Amino acid sequence: MEVCKDRLSLARFRSGLGESVGFVATMGALHKGHLSLIEKSLQENTHTIVSIFVNPTQFGENEDFGSYPRTLEADLALCERAGVSAVFTPSVEDMYSTDEITFNPPKNMGYILEGFDRPTHFAGVIAVVLKLFMLVKPRKAYFGQKDAQQVLILQKMVRDLFLDIEIVPCEIVRDDDGLALSSRNIYLSAKEREIALCIPRTIALVEQHIKNGEMSVDKLKALALESLRLGETTLFYADFFNRELKPIAVVKKQESIFLLALRVGKTRLLDNLWI
Ligand code: PAF
Repeated sequence: MEVCKDRLSLARFRSGLGESVGFVATMGALHKGHLSLIEKSLQENTHTIVSIFVNPTQFGENEDFGSYPRTLEADLALCERAGVSAVFTPSVEDMYSTDEITFNPPKNMGYILEGFDRPTHFAGVIAVVLKLFMLVKPRKAYFGQKDAQQVLILQKMVRDLFLDIEIVPCEIVRDDDGLALSSRNIYLSAKEREIALCIPRTIALVEQHIKNGEMSVDKLKALALESLRLGETTLFYADFFNRELKPIAVVKKQESIFLLALRVGKTRLLDNLWI
C-alpha cells in the first residue's frame, strides 16, 4: 500500500492507475462504518484510494477541530489489511491556499438541519470533496448514509458541476447495541451512551410503524418525540423530508427520509432512516 503524504506523490501514483478507481474520503479515526465503504469500493473497482484529512473548513469556530480524534497509525494498518491501494494524507497547507474560490451549497439544502446550526459546514465539505475528486479522479466515491444531508448535497454537486463520478451511498453500520457508528461516539460516557440508545430505538420504532402502514408524518413524528428521552437530551431536529430535503406531510416509500439529530452530554449525534 502506498502512503501519499502530498498532492505530488498522489498525482504520481494516480497516473499509473487506470480508470477503475474507487474513492473513500475520510477524516480518519476509522471504524467499521468506514471499513464497509472501503470493502464496497474494493469489490467494485480495481483500485481503492482512501483519504485521511481532518478538514478545517467544515468545522465551525467553536467546534472540535482541535480535539477531533486522530489515529493515523491504526488507520493506515486498517487500510493496509483491507487491501487499499493508496492512502492520501495531505497537510492543511497542501490542500488550501488563501482567499480561495468557493462554492456554496444549495440554499434549500445547505442551511437547514445540520446547516442551520453549522452554516459554514457544507461549504467546507464541498470545498474539500471537490478538491479530493480533482486529485483522486475516481469513477465512484463511497459515502455513509448516516450523513444523509452530506450525501444528498454531494449528489447534487456532482449533477450541477457535471462531474463524471458516481456517488455511492452506503448503509449505516451499527454497533451491537444499535448506536450508529461514528468517530465521535468515543466522546460519550457509559451513562450518555445508554441515554443515546433512544436514538436507534426511535429509528426502529418509526420503521416498524411505516411497515405497518402508518404514512402520516404528524403521527410518526409524535411517536418519535415520545420515544426520544427529551428530558435528558437536546433535540435539534426529528423530521421527514423528500430527497431534495423539502419537508413532507405524507411518507412515500423510496422517496422519503427521516432525519434525527440530538445532543447527549456534549456530543451531537445523527441518525436517519431512508424510507
Ligand atoms: O464525512 C466525512 O467524514 C467528511 O465530511 C468528509 C466527506 C471526509 C469530508 O471531509
